[in-house]
Amino acid sequence: MGYNTTITGTGHFVPPRTVTNLDLEKLMDTSDEWIRQRSGISTRHHADPGTGASDLAYEAALKAIESAGIDKTEIDFIIAATLSPDHYFPGIGVIVQSKLGIKTIGALDVRNQCSGFIYALSAADQYIRSGMYKKILLVAAEVQSSNLEFTDERRDVAVLFGDGGGAVILEPTEDEGKGILSTHLFSDGDHVQDLWMEAPSPKDKPTFSHEMIDSKRYCPRMNGRHVFVNAVERMPEAVWAGLKHNGLSIEDVDHLIPHQANDRISLMVANKLGIPVEKVIRNIDRFGNTTAASIPIALDESLREGRIKDGDLVVLTAFGSGFTWASAVIRW
Ligand code: UT7
Repeated sequence: MGYNTTITGTGHFVPPRTVTNLDLEKLMDTSDEWIRQRSGISTRHHADPGTGASDLAYEAALKAIESAGIDKTEIDFIIAATLSPDHYFPGIGVIVQSKLGIKTIGALDVRNQCSGFIYALSAADQYIRSGMYKKILLVAAEVQSSNLEFTDERRDVAVLFGDGGGAVILEPTEDEGKGILSTHLFSDGDHVQDLWMEAPSPKDKPTFSHEMIDSKRYCPRMNGRHVFVNAVERMPEAVWAGLKHNGLSIEDVDHLIPHQANDRISLMVANKLGIPVEKVIRNIDRFGNTTAASIPIALDESLREGRIKDGDLVVLTAFGSGFTWASAVIRW
């Protein structure tokens, strides 16, 4: 008898400080109107100094553990997805493990940026299907606000990103019609420089230099239009791959949760797929782009609102830095 992987608990946590578009207008040459029209974002949350991705992941994990109705000591593996770890090394998986006080289970860190949650979900799915682990905690969290520069030159990136964390608990089920039906992962490393934070880099000797600071190579850079054009192609492709694999059509999908990169991207993806916009879960207006955390935050909100119900078909898709893109087809 094989196992499928089900999501038995979810949680999310964002830092309390809300940053409005009007707040950003005071820092650089931008406007509430531009930000809302071009991205659909009204507010995002920024962490205060001293708070790292592991802190947001930990808070989200506590909620996911509670919603799964398990004891934290039952967790037998941790997977953590982030592009903004507390430290250059180690990753945040071990920090979350230590904060939860659940020694000495393994903790794996995943570095797939906006696609990080689905890549991590795919890894978790394989561990559960194989029988290796029975209760995996998957956290995805970002503190990006510290890496943003609120200047006219960097305003394209600065207005988009927000901080937040999401978490899920994954467990096996013997019901083969339920849970994660399949995951589909893609990458094209020819586009590394289209969305990246180049430095600090050990390729520089030394890694940290005045030149690195003066040239601002430590600022995230994005070729926005190029990312946009690729995102609206690749996310539908990933969804179609998932539907085809399971012999399903777009009419079978009850909820599409796209990575919340830009509301215009989500709407164009929906349009390309031919899925009614009511079936698309969108919360970027309140959170901005929280990268790896955006899908688990949207998933948790939708479940708590009662929007996703037992038996619903939920499709996740993401696209981002790398480029990497992915999809997951889940029967709730
Ligand atoms: O998470 C996955 C990774 N990220 C994404 O998927 C994001 C993908 N890209 C995007 O979402 C969009 O490309 C942006 C929102 C970043 C930009 O929107 P756009 O419609 O592609 O604008 P643009 O880059 O073509 O810029 C249009 C104008 C430019 O001015 P000029 O050259 O027309 O005079 C920009 O300088 O808007 C200007 N601009 C801004 N104006 C006010 C760029 N950023 C801002 C800003 N406020 N924050």
